[in-house]
Amino acid sequence: MEKLTGLKKIKTAVFISGTGSNLKNIIKFSKIKKSPISINLIISNTNKASGLKFADQFNIKKKIFNFQSFKKIEKKILILLKKENIKFICLAGFMKILSKNFIEKFDGKIINIHPSLLPKYKGLNTHNRAINNKDKFAGCTVHYVTAKLDSGKKILQKKIKITTKDNPSSLAKKVLRQEHKLYPAAIMKVFN
Ligand code: GAR
Repeated sequence: MEKLTGLKKIKTAVFISGTGSNLKNIIKFSKIKKSPISINLIISNTNKASGLKFADQFNIKKKIFNFQSFKKIEKKILILLKKENIKFICLAGFMKILSKNFIEKFDGKIINIHPSLLPKYKGLNTHNRAINNKDKFAGCTVHYVTAKLDSGKKILQKKIKITTKDNPSSLAKKVLRQEHKLYPAAIMKVFN
């Protein structure tokens, strides 16, 4: 990724589908001086994503796209991203799979956070799977997005111990706390 020159921050869009705790955390990070990015657009595939409230709270443009007809929608999103001069995309709990064509248009400029120690547990229900398999460790990974689901190059990963007291929900909370540290660190790494 290109180095930052001068004080201009890289215009970034965050894609969400749910609570948006990572979104809120990335917005807060983006406001500190050393952050290489600014958050200029929030995209959701559903108006039920409660994280959309952070768009209003932080006065950031938001747009909801109904992903029923993928090709058309992605075309519309690409037009919007261009109009807003967006150069970087953070997926943060975005539960749709972007097409190869879309990803190629932003090659090397889309990153994602996934709640597992990739390459273990791509896809859904990562915490259930880790506990059912009696794993000793869980974690989270920030990686580049490629056409192959949860398979792009790792940027940073954090390992967390699973205790005998953990259930999928307690583990999800523990991992999420670490996600909030990992995502900003990964963004810094991308631009350094
Ligand atoms: C996070 O745990 C994120 O890692 C996960 O969804 C949660 C979103 O939480 N993402 C995925 O599972 C993507 N495959 P948030 O909406 O509070 O940021």
